[in-house]
Amino acid sequence: MTADRSILIAPSILSADFADFGREIRAIEDQGADWVHVDVMDNHFVPNLTFGPQAVKAFRPHVKTFMDVHLMISPVDPSIESYAEAGADMITAHVEAESHIHRTVQAIRATGCKVGISLNPATPLDQVEYLLDDVDMVLLMTVNPGYGGQKFITSGVEKTRRLKQMIGDRPVLIQVDGGVTTETAPAVVAAGADVLVAGSAVFRGGSVDKPDVYGANIRALREAAQAAI
Ligand code: DX5
Ligand code: ZN
Repeated sequence: MTADRSILIAPSILSADFADFGREIRAIEDQGADWVHVDVMDNHFVPNLTFGPQAVKAFRPHVKTFMDVHLMISPVDPSIESYAEAGADMITAHVEAESHIHRTVQAIRATGCKVGISLNPATPLDQVEYLLDDVDMVLLMTVNPGYGGQKFITSGVEKTRRLKQMIGDRPVLIQVDGGVTTETAPAVVAAGADVLVAGSAVFRGGSVDKPDVYGANIRALREAAQAAI
């Protein structure tokens, strides 16, 4: 592990005020967010329903950093182009959501977006082994996807460590998503995580009228993460 490794903080707008996304996005970016994480849920692959491509397109002009679109939908392939057209910078799909996930990876790549691939907590790492030359990021879920505010599943730490070894020298980021807090972040960062998604830990206690709280939460996460490198 090198000392100059810097951790990216990607607040999930799943924890934002759903009636005020434009101002929420601007608030977290002004307060130091590196990426904006957009959780797309379909009430089929996961038991919750959030945004479609039209909403994601409406977020786009507010995002000045990097729009990281996490698709928790099945099937995925028919929707890839519409999320790319909506302005995603990265599209992440779940390996559990398609039978031919390599085709999904190719389809995301063909849009020009960065390519992410995600694993649920119980899905073994061998599911991504033969995709590592073709993706930009692997997202490890550390909760069962569907809701914010759940408890971190600790097996994600060892999984992160093994994934880091499996990636080796390839330019592939590791993103960890679910239950990331100042308490849980250090272990995943020490294990090799590069991008931390955080919903509740960023939005807790703040609002667009109290954005300093977002800033304090982001700084606390970043400090806890950087101290673990
Ligand atoms: C979970 C989503 C996460 C979620 C994280 O299904 O993919 O991005 O919003 O929220 P917290 O940080 O509250 O666990
Ligand atoms: Zn997510």
